[in-house]
Amino acid sequence: MRVLVVVGDTEPPERLLVRSDRVLHTAGPELEPQLLADVRAHIPEDVAVVGPAGRAEATKAAADLRAHGFPVTLYTDTPPTDPDGLRIRPLTDTGPPMEVADSLLDLVGDTPLVRLDRIGKRLDCHLLAKCEFLNAGGSVKDRPAVAMVDAAERAGLLQPGGTIVEPTSGNTGVGLAIVAARRKYRCVFVMPDKMAPEKIKLLRAYGAEVVVCPTAVAPSDPDSYYSVANRLTEEIPGAYQPNQYRNTENPESHVRSTGPEIWRQTAGRITHFVAGIGTGGTITGVGRYLKSQNPEIQIVGADPEGSVYSGGDGRPYLVEGIGEDFWPETYDRGIVDRVVPVTDRDSFLTARRVTREEGILIGGSGGTAVWAALEIGKELGPDHVVVLIIPDSGRGYLSKVYDDEWMADYGFLSALGNTVGDILHRKSAELPALVHVHLDEKVRDVISTMREFEVSQMPVVRAEPPLRTSSEVAGSVAERELMSLAFSDAAVLDRPVAEVMSPPLPSVGLGEPVDVVVSALDSATAVLVLDAGHPVGILTRSDLLAFLTGR
Ligand SMILES: Cc1ncc(COP(=O)(O)O)c(C=O)c1O
Repeated sequence: MRVLVVVGDTEPPERLLVRSDRVLHTAGPELEPQLLADVRAHIPEDVAVVGPAGRAEATKAAADLRAHGFPVTLYTDTPPTDPDGLRIRPLTDTGPPMEVADSLLDLVGDTPLVRLDRIGKRLDCHLLAKCEFLNAGGSVKDRPAVAMVDAAERAGLLQPGGTIVEPTSGNTGVGLAIVAARRKYRCVFVMPDKMAPEKIKLLRAYGAEVVVCPTAVAPSDPDSYYSVANRLTEEIPGAYQPNQYRNTENPESHVRSTGPEIWRQTAGRITHFVAGIGTGGTITGVGRYLKSQNPEIQIVGADPEGSVYSGGDGRPYLVEGIGEDFWPETYDRGIVDRVVPVTDRDSFLTARRVTREEGILIGGSGGTAVWAALEIGKELGPDHVVVLIIPDSGRGYLSKVYDDEWMADYGFLSALGNTVGDILHRKSAELPALVHVHLDEKVRDVISTMREFEVSQMPVVRAEPPLRTSSEVAGSVAERELMSLAFSDAAVLDRPVAEVMSPPLPSVGLGEPVDVVVSALDSATAVLVLDAGHPVGILTRSDLLAFLTGR
């Protein structure tokens, strides 16, 4: 245990503070018995003493501590002539100044702008990307994370040894985890289950705890990640929830840093700002600052199709970190001039293009912003300067957006030759797009739907098709299983299908080669087909046989 004793109202340097496990204060050189007892109680391996520059108080307090038998180091620039057993160390570093930050937290912000001239080669305007993935913790969210913790400490809402609880999709978590690691807070993060596994492992690497909750439930559901985070904040003593969806420090951090940086970096020439909207902190804060400098600047949101910002109902999509199913307080609609809806396919394929053509490994939501910027850029001329935000790096998505197999499984990539889509098209002439049943339908009605459409398998869905993602599929039913259940207990016929359904069918991508279905149907009796993440149909063994023999 290292103890730091601060004499008088001296402000000790950060370097000494972080090296101490405990900081004690004394008004003057006379040490109170309570302070001595406090030092003794912690069996210090070293007691550091610092006091007002050029005065004798610290030396006197240090000598007193030494006389009580403690190992003492006196930090001073005016060492006593007779140290009398005290270890003396310089308080200030007198060598030439070095270019070094006191902590990683001091390196957040000041990210560079880079031209996207290859991706934007058909545009007349300047297309510039703000590289937020170069932040200390790897994303735009470092900025609000540090600002929210600083403000909570100032307001006394977060005390030493306290716990930070936050519902976060990952990046805010990393920012908070860095502050927590550095300042010794416990961290508990709550996130939806659609997140890439790397993101969860990353937070755990910083020592944080992660609680994973289902994606496809309403925010008010007790199992939603918002509800779980609120419950944990109430239950854990000393817990504080920064709440990035409400905390004014979130947009304010961008008013103070990101906005002025962009204004300065573009010499005030920016005409359009494009950003994805998660909490809305970035677009609201940057937009507010930029409009305060020039009200003509156009603020453009890039939004996953299905999210509320671009007029959707919040139904799920696959791009991570942006889009919402509710309106957060941190989003100011009055600042945003236009919101461009972007499909998952366009987001992911654009992210992959930026990586391959510009050599910049960007995340899926960066792809959303680039796609929207290219869209608005088509209408602009050489005097226009478009700045877009790349929130994070593609490193967090190597097993999704940058994994060809994952992309093919979800129907984002297409193989050469015959594909799953060819089998489905052959069959779909006779069927409605996706024969399905809802969770609350009675088994009796489910069986008659199967008869009516002459199908042997069906997905059980949570929402009305067209479905947005496979998370809207709750399970599956097979005619044969329902029959045998009904045969052994006729009462089953009047129970909701949710009580008897099987797990969802395995899925294949529309563009995958036919042999993928062949091997999937080895172990399953049917598969669900995904087109750009959207469930669009079911294929059974007989569909496959019909296709193979019909050729
Ligand atoms: C990957 C990613 N992109 C974009 C954003 C959106 O930023 P904001 O919450 O400031 O709207 C986030 C926020 O979590 C994110 O994680």
